[in-house]
Amino acid sequence: MQVRVVVDQPWDVKADVLAVPILGQPAFTGPLGELDKRAGGELASLTDFGEIRGKRFKSALAAPGEVKAGRLLAISAGEAAELDRETVVKVAASVERRLAGRAVHSLAIWLSPLADVLEGGAAAVAELMARGVVEGSYEPAAIYREGYADGPPTLDELILVAPGADIARLGEAAKRGRIIGEGANIARTLANRSSNDVSPEVLAEEAWSLAEKNDLWIDVIGPEKAIDMGMGLFMAVGRGSDNPPRMIVMRSGKAGEKDALGRHLAIVGKGVCFDSGGISIKPSDRMEEMKMDKTGAATVIAAAVTVAKLAPGTPLLVLAPAVENMPGSHSTRPGDVVKALNGKWVDITNTDAEGRLILADALTYAERLGATHLVDVATLTGAVSRALGELVTGAFGTPQSFVDEVFAAGAKAGERYWQLPLVEDYRADMESWYGDLVNFSRNNEGGLVKSALFISEFVTKPWVHLDIAGTGYFRKVTPFATRGSTGVAHATLVELALAGAKG
Ligand code: BES
Ligand code: ZN
Ligand code: MN
Repeated sequence: MQVRVVVDQPWDVKADVLAVPILGQPAFTGPLGELDKRAGGELASLTDFGEIRGKRFKSALAAPGEVKAGRLLAISAGEAAELDRETVVKVAASVERRLAGRAVHSLAIWLSPLADVLEGGAAAVAELMARGVVEGSYEPAAIYREGYADGPPTLDELILVAPGADIARLGEAAKRGRIIGEGANIARTLANRSSNDVSPEVLAEEAWSLAEKNDLWIDVIGPEKAIDMGMGLFMAVGRGSDNPPRMIVMRSGKAGEKDALGRHLAIVGKGVCFDSGGISIKPSDRMEEMKMDKTGAATVIAAAVTVAKLAPGTPLLVLAPAVENMPGSHSTRPGDVVKALNGKWVDITNTDAEGRLILADALTYAERLGATHLVDVATLTGAVSRALGELVTGAFGTPQSFVDEVFAAGAKAGERYWQLPLVEDYRADMESWYGDLVNFSRNNEGGLVKSALFISEFVTKPWVHLDIAGTGYFRKVTPFATRGSTGVAHATLVELALAGAKG
C-alpha cells in the first residue's frame, strides 16, 4: 500500500472511496457544506433521515454526485469535545473494515475535520489514520486459508487529504503510523496462530528470522542451558510438554547500553504457547482460547521489530519466555517447591498460575543483562477482564514516576490503562510453609493484585506490569476490529522505547 498526502480539496480527489469523518450532529457549513453541496445534498439528507448520527464508528455510504470519488463514506467520530487519539485510530480502522468485500483499490480519507480538533493537528491525524487503516485491514480468517476474499480490501493506495498541510511532514507522520500498524499486525498473527502451528520452538524461529531481517541481536536459550543457569520457575512450567521451552532474548543497541533517558529498558512478554492449566487443568469450556496466551511474547517481539524500523540502534532489551503449559508425567505437581533464578524458593500451589512463574525468571535474567527499567506484558489473569473489560489494560508498578512514564507512552499510542494498587498487606497471604512464597494464594480474594505482588518479588528496579488478559483479544466483532488478537500495548511499548531514541 502506497500512502500519499494531497492538499487538494476533498471533492477534487479521485479515489474509489472518500471517507468523510463526522463529528457530533454535523452542521453543513464551511468545507463540509461545500462537499455536501457537490454531493447533491446527499450527506445532509442522510443526516436528516437519521442514517448519519453522532454515534462513534457508525458509517453510511453515499452517492458522490459531482464529487470526484466513486463513493462517499461518512464515518462518525463521536463528539468533537471527546475526540482522542484512540478514537482516530479506530475511526480509520472502521472505515477499512466497513469496506470489506467491496472493490476498493484507492481509499481517500479527509483529515481536516479531525485535524481541526485533535491536539497535534493534521500530522497527528495522518499518523493515527494510516495506522488505523493498516490495523483495520488485518484479517485473521486469512491466516490459514488461501484466497479468503471476505476480508477488508487490500489497498493499492491510501490518500490522506489535508488542504493547506505540509505534505512532507504529513508523509513522514503517515509512514510512522503505517509502520506501527504493521508491527501490531505482526504481533496479532503470532498471537492468533494456533498451538499446533506455533510451539515455543517455532516462536523462537519466527523471532530469529525477524531479528535477522531487522538487524537485531538474538539469543535463544533451550532447556539444558536454562536448567544449568538455574531458571527453575521457567523450567517448572516448560518441562511438562514434549515441545521444549525457549527463552527468547533480543536486543537493539549494545549490551547494557543506556538510551537518551539513561535507561536500559527491557520489555518482557509472557509466551505461553498453550495454557491448559497443567496438572491444575482448566475446564474445557473456552480452553481453545488459551492459544492466545503467548500474546505478550508476540507483542514484545513485534515491538522490537517496529523500534528497529523507526529508530535503528535505540537501546532496547526484549525477553520472551516461551513454554507450553501441559499436564503429563513430567509436569510440575501442585505442591512442588522450586528454586527461582533469583534464589527464592517458590511453592507452586497451582500450576495454572504459570505466567507469573516464567515472567519471574525472565525479569531476573533481564536485570542480569543490565536492565534498569522493566515492563512486562502478559495475559495473566481472568480477573483483570472482569474488572476492566476489553478496552482498558490493568497496570501495576513502582515507582510512580516510571508508571507515569509508561502511561505517557500509552497516551501517545492512544491506548487506555488503569493503575491498580500493589497492596503490600496481601503479601501475608502469599507466604508458604515450605518455600519463600506460593504462586497462588488459597484465599484468592484480590487475586489480581496478588498476581502482581508475586512478580514484584522478582524485580529490584523500576518496573511496570501490564495485564492484557482482557484487552489482548476480542471475542466479539466490533466496527474497528474483528475477533482475535488486538495488538494492544504494542504501540505503547514502541512509544516508551522511542522516548529514549538517540539523535
Ligand atoms: N492465561 C491465564 C489467564 C487468562 C484467562 C487469559 C482468561 C485470558 C483469558 C492464566 O495463566 C491463568 O490461568 N490465570 C488464572 C490464575 C489463577 C490460577 C490464580 C486465572 O485467571 O484464573
Ligand atoms: Zn496463562
Ligand atoms: Mn494459566
